[in-house]
Amino acid sequence: MPPSFLEAVITRFDRGLRTAAGVPQTEPDSRPPPRGQSPPGPRSGPGEARHIGRLMRVNYAGEVAAQGLYHGQGLTARDPQVAERMAEAAQEEQDHLNWCLERMAAHGVRPSVLNPLWLAGSVTLGAAAGLAGDRWSLGFVAETERQVMRHLQGHLAQVPDHEPETRAVLEQMVLDESQHAEWAEDGGAHPLPLTVRAAMGLNSKLLTKGSYWV
Ligand SMILES: [Fe+2]
Ligand SMILES: [Fe+2]
Repeated sequence: MPPSFLEAVITRFDRGLRTAAGVPQTEPDSRPPPRGQSPPGPRSGPGEARHIGRLMRVNYAGEVAAQGLYHGQGLTARDPQVAERMAEAAQEEQDHLNWCLERMAAHGVRPSVLNPLWLAGSVTLGAAAGLAGDRWSLGFVAETERQVMRHLQGHLAQVPDHEPETRAVLEQMVLDESQHAEWAEDGGAHPLPLTVRAAMGLNSKLLTKGSYWV
């Protein structure tokens, strides 16, 4: 029997709280963190390690927000196939959460205390996008993924070659996000108006700045 709406809300809420608190969640089909091809060279000094750890904290916060969006969108999607695909996408993003957590721990950095805020905001935003209609909702996914890709590429430019594990995680995340964007575009995503895209960009700046520091 498919879960009721209330059961789905409770399950997602439970999962979301664990994610916001930085609890890794592994499934039998979870992918291990990708590892760099080159052998590790000189390790980063304390200042550089802290910076890289904080970049991964920003990425973790971004993934928390992505989880919230997918769950919110899944709850209000009209087409059951879109709702199902949103749930699958949230599951696929779980690997990114686990990898970011592992990279943060390797650099002695804890998750952002603002994660519950990003989660609550993004569930609300996702539910609103879902209510606007599936094609707008898919447009929202495509734009989010494209913005995340640009953001990850910016981080890649800051992570040195002697951090091959972190670079490998970021590179795989860029590839995965690009596939998520293509899935949404192939599914009939509506391109979003410039004002919405600009608002999303502003939102992401807030998340980036906030979770880098706390
Ligand atoms: Fe992701
Ligand atoms: Fe994604």
